[in-house]
Amino acid sequence: MPNVKVRISGRDSAYKIKIGSDTLSSAGPWVADCLKRDGCKVAIVSNPTVFQLHGEAVERSLIEAGFAVSRFLMKDGEAHKSLRTAEAALSFFSEAGLTRTDAVVALGGGVVGDLAGFAAAMYLRGIAFLQIPTTLLSMIDSSVGGKTGVNTVFGKNLVGAFHQPSGVLIDVDTLATLPQRELIAGFCEVVKHGAIGGKPLLKQTQKFLSTFPIEAFGDNQTDRGFRSEISKLIAANVEFKAKIVVGDERESSKRMDGRSRKILNFGHTLAHALEKVTSYQYFKHGEAVGYGILFAAELSKSLALCDEKDVKLLNDVAQSVGPLPALAKIDGDEVFEAFKFDKKHLSGSLQMILLKGIGKPVILTDNDIPRTTVQKVLKQLLKKWA
Ligand code: NAD
Ligand code: GLY
Repeated sequence: MPNVKVRISGRDSAYKIKIGSDTLSSAGPWVADCLKRDGCKVAIVSNPTVFQLHGEAVERSLIEAGFAVSRFLMKDGEAHKSLRTAEAALSFFSEAGLTRTDAVVALGGGVVGDLAGFAAAMYLRGIAFLQIPTTLLSMIDSSVGGKTGVNTVFGKNLVGAFHQPSGVLIDVDTLATLPQRELIAGFCEVVKHGAIGGKPLLKQTQKFLSTFPIEAFGDNQTDRGFRSEISKLIAANVEFKAKIVVGDERESSKRMDGRSRKILNFGHTLAHALEKVTSYQYFKHGEAVGYGILFAAELSKSLALCDEKDVKLLNDVAQSVGPLPALAKIDGDEVFEAFKFDKKHLSGSLQMILLKGIGKPVILTDNDIPRTTVQKVLKQLLKKWA
């Protein structure tokens, strides 16, 4: 089964990302290997939905490996990725007696991973944490790269820290219990990686989706071919993300080149605006990114940056993922206005990631893009997907 190593410069050791089937049952030895110690205290951070499905296997293996295990279950949902929950986690770590040589294990999707990583970054000025992601999105994106954080009333992910995990353990069997909408949301981020990563990755995604359509995901889980192909697809995504992250760990604000960490935000300008105008209630984040990809591709074509053939390939793969929520009730003017929200966090100019071709991202500012073109492409998109 594939393994990927992430070596962040300035650190003595790389962290390992292990990907495979039935890996949860060896979580204990794996944590010991990543931490280079056993017998210490480990706090599992999860939520009741995930813990009920997959927690016992992880907890049992950790106990068998000699760890003293405690469990903090946060409430399920984006609304609980908050300072209040982080504070509750910190109190829990203190009550459980965690010291600087102990560790936090995040078991769940991106919400749990971001919250647990942030709490681990703050506790005693930073203790080790390990990621066991259980959604597709968290496997290929949020568990890798060290961005941790919480939302505030002013917006998403506004408070956080860079804190790299000591290891990431991916068990593809956990995807069997994931609701279909969450799978679609995750695959939209897989398509995002293909768009900016290059044709081999995009075509691997296309081939996977035509062989194993999302509707049959649950039925395919017992198929060894499926487990091997999904593991390889996840590994390819993780490798791509890791390559970008090691070159720009902290997403330098000055960088505007096509290997900057900013390119991972491809599709996110529209996604953030769509999420904002629907008060974060209507779309899963990945679904909004799905529309963001279609929008950025069309805009790239309208600006004569990207040729028709590449845009068509990207559209075909994005649409093969599955249905996205209709855009009928979305107001174009409100969306355009909401673009300003991203702008505020980038010292005044909106930066958009567009494509010169598949695997050739470019970062442009709104000064480089005529406002009327953006409005026209947006209007067409809203009409097409109403
Ligand atoms: P999520 O964590 O909310 O999980 C989605 C739902 O699936 C939840 O209800 C969860 O309980 C449930 N679930 C998780 N695993 C399951 C399983 N195996 N079976 C059944 N149900 C399961 O959502 P997500 O899409 O994983 O993560 C979104 C979060 O990730 C957002 O907060 C976003 O900001 C963050 N994010 C962070 C980064 C980063 O680099 N740190 C990158 C992308 C996204
Ligand atoms: N998901 C974007 C990043 O990790 O930078």
